[in-house]
Amino acid sequence: MTHPTPTLRLADGDPAELAVDALIIGLHSQPGEGGALLPAAGAESIAAAFDGKLSSTLSLLGATGAPGEVTKLATLGTVAAPLIVAVGLGDEPAGSAPATETLRRGTGAAVRALAGSENVALALPVPGDADAPGVLRAILEGALLGSYRFGGYKTKPQPGRRDPVKNLQVIVADSGDAAAQAELTRAEIVGRVVRQTRDWVNQAPNELRPPAFADAVAAAAEGTGLEVEVLDFDQLKAGGYGGIVAVGQGSEAPPRLVKLSYTPEGVQNPKRVALVGKGITFDTGGISIKPAAGMWEMKSDMAGAAAVGATLLAVAALKPDVAVSGYLAIAENMPSGTAYRPGDVITMFSGKRVEVLNTDAEGRMVLADGIARACADGTDYLFETSTLTGGQVISLGKRIAGVMGDPATCERVKAAGDLVGEPAWPMPLPDDVRKGMESEIADISQTNASMDRAGHMLQGGVFLSEFVAEGVPWAHIDIAGPSYHTGEPSGYWTKGGTGVPVRTLLALIDDVAANG
Ligand code: BES
Ligand code: MN
Ligand code: ZN
Repeated sequence: MTHPTPTLRLADGDPAELAVDALIIGLHSQPGEGGALLPAAGAESIAAAFDGKLSSTLSLLGATGAPGEVTKLATLGTVAAPLIVAVGLGDEPAGSAPATETLRRGTGAAVRALAGSENVALALPVPGDADAPGVLRAILEGALLGSYRFGGYKTKPQPGRRDPVKNLQVIVADSGDAAAQAELTRAEIVGRVVRQTRDWVNQAPNELRPPAFADAVAAAAEGTGLEVEVLDFDQLKAGGYGGIVAVGQGSEAPPRLVKLSYTPEGVQNPKRVALVGKGITFDTGGISIKPAAGMWEMKSDMAGAAAVGATLLAVAALKPDVAVSGYLAIAENMPSGTAYRPGDVITMFSGKRVEVLNTDAEGRMVLADGIARACADGTDYLFETSTLTGGQVISLGKRIAGVMGDPATCERVKAAGDLVGEPAWPMPLPDDVRKGMESEIADISQTNASMDRAGHMLQGGVFLSEFVAEGVPWAHIDIAGPSYHTGEPSGYWTKGGTGVPVRTLLALIDDVAANG
């Protein structure tokens, strides 16, 4: 259904002699040089073949070197490739390479612009990890993510619509270098699972209802070595998962809890990381129904669970020395004669009783059970991610995730996000927000009793904190904005699911593996 992942390999040698359909090079602006452009490292032989006229020609075509800008130039025999695509990488860097996210986005933009081409080579700055850590990784990721396109459901071929690039080669100093080859292997794994996340998010919600989503995750985990546990509706009821049952009971497509676990081989007492994801396959709001405008976007309300499932798939292949479990709390939030209602009091998996005030705050209901189950299994760290609140989008926008939890863990999430180009910002869990959630009749209200939207995102975090076992370092990552891209494609972000925060979760697992 979705377009195949392009082949990706490393190559070395002179890019000017490569007989590919197109060659991607980088282009810098030079603020000190009166607007003169500077071909980025990697493009030296191309510049030489143009006899000093490459920068001025690109300038004539309107290039400025601004990050992500794409300029195409027919080579008319000067080099073997008939087409050069110059991608802006911003001002000439102080060090040996531009920032990794600039490269990741630039690579994504250039590869996207080459849809319709078969064979593309990238001659971008790759100074080696000792000088500029993460540069090769960023280029490989940008190429694999920028070339994603959801297949969709059209019954007829689309004339004039060009398929994503088929074969990519990235030029490095030594393609046989073991570290470079290890980066290629890693990028193929990460690229595959981020693309998988996007596919799950982009799928139509009638096609990906809870049982189908759980089955798809279990099928993807088959043969990977992951242990898979799927709880069905009866098992959830019998197991006391009151939150997941309450949200799921309004739909004829019953809820699921999927647990995926990875145990490293030959590691005594490995650190344990639990990941919990919100998997609402469609969020109508339930009895507290949402307005019609834009409701379709709530097909992406399972982005957190998709990211957690995909992260476990990557972990199974990357094999870190950390034990990782993923919990996907999956339900469809529907209004019906069997739906839960405002006023219901629900006994949750943890034993706490929650007074429901708004059935549209369903994410925290299913997550509270996922979190409590993860804590009951035992974990050293807990990261939970969800499209939890519209308040996240209001406060931090479409690119930056909101992070709540204990301060040290929030800082680790922020650092991991900065490393991979998935920015996240720590937010507080204020006492007065908790006070506003006191219930007259139950242990806690699901939302602020006055339905006051002030500190909306924080309410979600405060509620979830009640279900984290004492002393477990944890963070809640609200991805309502960054998990789904509604505008035109940009950088390596295509339309729809973005795959955020898969790469952050993987960076956190690396961080725990390295630093405990
Ligand atoms: N899934 C939504 C949050 C959301 C909104 C995600 C926009 C992505 C984009 C969530 O279940 C929800 O409905 N939240 C309510 C909570 C409120 C009823 C307390 C919200 O944000 O308005
Ligand atoms: Mn909702
Ligand atoms: Zn929701």
